[in-house]
Amino acid sequence: MLSFRFAGTFLMGLLLLAGGVASPTAATAGEWPSEKQCKKLKDADVVTTGWCVAITRRKGNCLGCHMAMVNPWPEGFPPGGNVGPPLVAMKSRFESKEALRAQIYDPTVRSPNTSMPPFGKHRLLSDKQIDQIVEWLWTI
Ligand code: HEC
Repeated sequence: MLSFRFAGTFLMGLLLLAGGVASPTAATAGEWPSEKQCKKLKDADVVTTGWCVAITRRKGNCLGCHMAMVNPWPEGFPPGGNVGPPLVAMKSRFESKEALRAQIYDPTVRSPNTSMPPFGKHRLLSDKQIDQIVEWLWTI
């Protein structure tokens, strides 16, 4: 059941890409900074900050398990993992930012045996950091 949904989402992402209409927000956001560049950023907007929290290995490390549909992919950046489903079309996957937030706060509510860490419940990330990630994810 789940894997069908994941496959569907993935295909939809590919179709969107093929149609050249993928994630207009991400595309217009320009180059996504690398982990190193993130450290030097000052006064970054909330979406960029969320991306930085997500990709930083000592913080979210989301790309350790997920691919993310950002465009253009940062040059020389390792591709995301395939332990979890690709992060794409979040607005069609979750009915609200709150629902998406709940997934990151504690994914075990939806999938009891998931390997995804409960970032909020176990205080791996602060509430603010989770909000920032949600703002980023809501654009892809
Ligand atoms: C150790 C691997 C791992 C890490 C690290 C991880 N995830 Fe996941 N994630 C998964 C797995 C496995 C699933 C699928 C099962 C589930 O729903 O929990 C998943 C599911 C998801 C989903 C639901 C996707 C969908 O389309 O249903 C979202 C959103 C998500 N992860 C976001 C994140 C974010 C944001 C981070 C970083 C803060 C993160 N994940 C870190 C493994 C991981």
